[in-house]
Amino acid sequence: MRIIIFGPPGSGKGTQAKKIAAHFNISHLSTGNMFREAISQGTELGKLVESIIDQGHLVPDQTVVDLVEETIDKEEYNGGYIIDGFPRTVEQAVAFDNLLERRNESIDAFLSLHVPDEELVKRLLARGEGRSDDTEEKIRTRLDVYKKETAPVMDHYQQAGMFRSIDGTGTIDEIFERALSALPSK
Ligand code: AP5
Repeated sequence: MRIIIFGPPGSGKGTQAKKIAAHFNISHLSTGNMFREAISQGTELGKLVESIIDQGHLVPDQTVVDLVEETIDKEEYNGGYIIDGFPRTVEQAVAFDNLLERRNESIDAFLSLHVPDEELVKRLLARGEGRSDDTEEKIRTRLDVYKKETAPVMDHYQQAGMFRSIDGTGTIDEIFERALSALPSK
């Protein structure tokens, strides 16, 4: 099973991806988590992306695509995965299509979470882990970037016929139940 989970900042991609990965016994790939880990370890990649992420902008497409390619090559991703935070531009989506084609693989579902802006801002401001991009100003920048650069990715997957969209409001368990109903069964 290979799934993309998609939505604006704060829509619950990471929260739901963890639960879906456990349910299907697949790996969870979060580009945001991988970048934050690289920053905290002070790697070359971390140094390259730190100020971009801090400002709420997007890391260059090729950097992200290379990271995803390197990651899904690892053995633990052979049994399937759910990707959260990628693709985030139409260019990344096209590069991912090409990458999967070279590997003779395909995506089973693209799951989009819908949450109103006010709820997104509320959730991100309430997050307790002190992310440097969770200030009100940077959250607004991230939402603008999402609308301009990331939302068009939905059209790309709608055309490919694997698009599923669910209401991302309510309790975490209610959303998880909706997600399972929208996804292909095991
Ligand atoms: P990334 O880490 O992907 O951040 P994001 O998209 O801004 O998403 P978040 O992690 O903030 O939210 P989420 O949707 O995962 O929700 P979560 O479950 O955490 O990316 C960070 C940065 O990295 C980007 O800005 C960019 O710079 C860079 N980057 C990453 N990927 C890239 C790419 N492909 N291309 C270019 N750049 C890239 O939930 C949020 C909060 O809400 C949590 O506190 C959670 O507990 C809470 N919550 C969740 N569900 C509920 C609920 N139902 N009710 C109430 N609270 C809830």
